[in-house]
Amino acid sequence: MDKMGIDEIAVKGERVFVRVDFNVPMDDQQVITDDTRIRAALPTVKHLVDNGARVILASHLGRPKGKVDPRYSLAPVAGHLSQLLQQDVQMAPDCVGTEVKVLADGLRDGQILILENVRYHAEEEKNDPDFARSLADLADIYVNDAFGAAHRAHASTEGIAKYIPAYAGFLMKKELDILGQALSNPNRPFAAIIGGAKVSDKIGVIDNLLKKVDALIIGGGMANTFLKAQGFEVGKSLIEPDKIDLAAELIRQAEQRGVKLMLPADVVVTREFKADAPFRVAEVNAIQADEMALDIGPASAKSFADTVLAAQTVIWNGPMGVFEMDNFARGTEQIAQAMAECTGTTIIGGGDSVAAVEKVGVAEKMTHISTGGGASLEFLEGKTLPGVAILKDKNE
Ligand code: 3PG
Repeated sequence: MDKMGIDEIAVKGERVFVRVDFNVPMDDQQVITDDTRIRAALPTVKHLVDNGARVILASHLGRPKGKVDPRYSLAPVAGHLSQLLQQDVQMAPDCVGTEVKVLADGLRDGQILILENVRYHAEEEKNDPDFARSLADLADIYVNDAFGAAHRAHASTEGIAKYIPAYAGFLMKKELDILGQALSNPNRPFAAIIGGAKVSDKIGVIDNLLKKVDALIIGGGMANTFLKAQGFEVGKSLIEPDKIDLAAELIRQAEQRGVKLMLPADVVVTREFKADAPFRVAEVNAIQADEMALDIGPASAKSFADTVLAAQTVIWNGPMGVFEMDNFARGTEQIAQAMAECTGTTIIGGGDSVAAVEKVGVAEKMTHISTGGGASLEFLEGKTLPGVAILKDKNE
């Protein structure tokens, strides 16, 4: 269902509570090491400022477990945002309470206030109705631009919308449009590449994508469990013994649906989980008992890349190997390169694959890099995200 966006409402003079996902990585000195999520929210913030709204920004940062913890303060984010916008951003001492209410009420048209970490209060994650109401009392309108937190039914992502009208920000819209279009009406052929360490993390995604894609490529540690299900011996490779039957079932389902399920035909193996350990390429039927697979091999990378290049829509979630170690990064890098060269719609579904395309330097070549990790996964699983469900539908 199409959601109503902020370009469809009048915001002049209104106090607009904008839930953003400014859960950004910081170093020990609280210096922001990746500001992608802050930049991604700028179109919404600028639109509201330019149209005379009184902007109240709210976010979580990390997991302070309901307690005030200065390591998770949003103050560095306020400073950074102020620099990006070339505009003053006021930092509130908390996200609720009399002092915050006074600051919110005192905003003039086009001014910005950022609330302190909503997770300093345990009521946020409990989706406490009184707490949600206190947040709602600060504003006239609610905007959710926090796609990355939309899978959480928390007070600032879900509960608040029971009290004031709720609209989608531009980032939220973009994420829903691009990911939604890929799932509901993709240009074909449609390929998905799923990687990462564990099958158990991706069962829901594989299950849902099998109903949609033409080709499903499986790499990374999780491919070992599928190889085992096909009867290959995978030595000391990471596998999930209790998921072997499920892997076999998914292989059967792919066959039934006519989906081309692609598993590695060769892998890069080593005897030690170490960056400088000696390694070799092995066919999947020739992995020794004391070897473990840490990357897909060159033949697999080539055939996976060919499938990516031929696709009109590609979604990628999860690396093909232990790409933090150079010796086991090649498979992931080749997929990133193929994604960059693919002329179709290329979508990075959050998480580690974002780091992979950045490492290879091809991030700008992607059609879309999702700002959601867990949220993208749940979206790709076909789940309804609570932070989306509460937004006004276009025809409401
Ligand atoms: C994320 O980084 O995926 C989101 O900000 C959600 O954070 P959370 O997993 O702590 O809820």
